[in-house]
Amino acid sequence: MSIRLEEVSLIYHPGTPFQTAALECITCTMTKGDITGITGPTGSGKSTLLQLLNGLLKPSSGQVFIDGERIDQLGGEKLTQLRRKVALAFQFPEKQVFELTVREDIAFGPRQLGLRGEELENRVCWAMEQVGLPPARYAERTCASLSGGQKRLVALAGMVAMRPDYVLLDEPWAGLDAVARQHLKQFILRLKGEGTTVVLVSHDLEDLVEISDRLLLLKEGRLIMQGPTRTVLNHCSELVASGIEVPVWHRVLLEIKKRCPEINLAVTDVEEAADELERLLRSAHLRCRSRKQEHSGPRENGA
Ligand SMILES: Nc1ncnc2c1ncn2[C@@H]1O[C@H](COP(=O)(O)OP(=O)(O)OP(=O)(O)O)[C@@H](O)[C@H]1O
Ligand SMILES: [Mg+2]
Repeated sequence: MSIRLEEVSLIYHPGTPFQTAALECITCTMTKGDITGITGPTGSGKSTLLQLLNGLLKPSSGQVFIDGERIDQLGGEKLTQLRRKVALAFQFPEKQVFELTVREDIAFGPRQLGLRGEELENRVCWAMEQVGLPPARYAERTCASLSGGQKRLVALAGMVAMRPDYVLLDEPWAGLDAVARQHLKQFILRLKGEGTTVVLVSHDLEDLVEISDRLLLLKEGRLIMQGPTRTVLNHCSELVASGIEVPVWHRVLLEIKKRCPEINLAVTDVEEAADELERLLRSAHLRCRSRKQEHSGPRENGA
């Protein structure tokens, strides 16, 4: 069971002077239980692709399947059911936060599912704790009084409060500080641990590679690379050529690779980068020692 796109293209405003080909012939699979990261330059089609996955947008051609069911032509009650199963957090959280207080906003979705009273209250508190918003501090705040980053967390809490099977997150860490980002990454990993399938869109490769099982790279509406995260990172120079900002430790490894081709680029965080550099230094040191021994020639007995 998974998400599958087959030769999907999407044209905005077809047949008008504003016609824009946002996606061209995308074929890919996002495996159930995985975290799939989607990256690409500004305007490459990342948000468009995400919105196809919960039926918010319909492809101009091609097919979208969720758990084997074709979803690109769904409407009415079937579409509502799909959105409960596949929840999307928008790139701009202010689009998603509506109710007066944080508690009410997060309760909206679960109430639609029929939850009431203590069960509803527990679900709201649980969702707030999951995203790092302590209920005692935030539940009665008005949404209008929150910062952009806090609104993003409220939108995420509202989404997970419905316990969807698929969670689609568009630039989830935009506007969050380092602590909130770390918290959010742990939360996404917990979702995966519970069997939720997560699709993440981000410009920020550093955060994305740390937690993604697979990566997709979009450029000008086309899928130019896809595969397990480490395999894609091994082609890091292509990411740079595509205008993707790679983590600073990856840029250092890429520079070293120009002089030392055996360096492994398939590392997903700074600790692994340090391990790789250490491995390289050790093997250089060993090579140097054996060369020195060769030059000093065979030693005489007793020397
Ligand atoms: N509602 C729309 N009407 C017309 N064109 C659109 C619309 N939304 C997006 N586009 C165009 O489709 C292309 C892909 O846009 P999309 O928002 O999917 O890119 P993105 O990769 O998410 O960009 P960003 O990194 O800036 O969020 C762009 O050329 C964009 O201008
Ligand atoms: Mg976008």
